[in-house]
Amino acid sequence: MAKKNIDWANIGFGYIKTDYRYVSHYKNGAWDEGALITDETITLNECACVFQYAQTCFEGLKAYTTEDGHIVTFRPDLNAERMMNSAARLEMPQFPKERFIDAVTKTVAANADYVPPFGSGATLYIRPFMFGSNPVIGVKPAEEYQFRILTTPVGPYFKGGAKPITICVSDFDRAAPHGTGHVKAGLNYAMSLHAIMEAHRNGFDENMYLDAATRTYVEETGGANFIFVTKDNTVVTPKSGSILPSITRRSIIYVAEHYLGLKVEERPVRFDEVKDFAECGLCGTAAVISPVGKIVDHGNEICMPSGMEKMGPVIQKLYDTLTGIQMGHIEAPEGWIHVIK
Ligand code: PLP
Ligand code: COI
Repeated sequence: MAKKNIDWANIGFGYIKTDYRYVSHYKNGAWDEGALITDETITLNECACVFQYAQTCFEGLKAYTTEDGHIVTFRPDLNAERMMNSAARLEMPQFPKERFIDAVTKTVAANADYVPPFGSGATLYIRPFMFGSNPVIGVKPAEEYQFRILTTPVGPYFKGGAKPITICVSDFDRAAPHGTGHVKAGLNYAMSLHAIMEAHRNGFDENMYLDAATRTYVEETGGANFIFVTKDNTVVTPKSGSILPSITRRSIIYVAEHYLGLKVEERPVRFDEVKDFAECGLCGTAAVISPVGKIVDHGNEICMPSGMEKMGPVIQKLYDTLTGIQMGHIEAPEGWIHVIK
């Protein structure tokens, strides 16, 4: 088997069809045994719950080629657990954790030729997703579901890779208190589409959402959590019940404390504190750690001291350590790296 002939260094964050995907059907109260299939299309009834009431949730993780040629994934157990939480919140059946990890393993192994080579700057993005598939017209959960995994090779989420981006404070809210912001429901992303297009039309790369109740605290962006660094090198990350519990952010906290000896504060972050930070970054599976150079609030510019040319020094260290662990040249904490082959 040979790697596919793809220009790995120049792909963006888009969909490229791979050879295999995984599907398991839920019917009569049970998941079937699941299988790898080749057909990338899905045929559903017009009244499927996912179409009418957006009953769908998903996950995102990546497969990496390590320096010594293995294919690995990063903490898939945490994606499995988060998807179980998302499913519970949306009244969907849970796909068991061990089966989730096994399905990820099988899907990535089957698409090994699409896992970008070490050092290419690209990775294989893994997208587990689940949806209500039988016809529903009264507002109620479906009785039948599909759990699927698709994979696609991806490059950097933001054009320009590690170049600092400019974001704006959104007038729209991402998630309500006691809503679904803490789970990975498709509906959270549907409602962010207008906000992100407005941001792009106004020349910004992303939105900073504030808390919906008071519009005083920093929440997150449409697809990543925030990390800030104070002028005395403390890593600060927003705590909120309505943001997604990012696996990247949780890993960065551990790396900051245990690998780099930095102080970390996970706490509510007021927007009026942001101007005092030295560095800002967005963290997530897709974003990895993307530096933010400028934050614009209705014309008021906050220019991070780290500037628009490169990552600040602390975020650079966090980035190097985290990606070093993911790519296998820095020893990982027990259980973080799941070897596929
Ligand atoms: N926040 C949102 C809204 C996201 O969609 C994501 C991506 O999954 C994240 C944060 C980052 O989470 P993770 O680090 O688990 O990918
Ligand atoms: C991820 O980082 O995996 C996500 O799901 C975020 C999305 C914006 C691509």
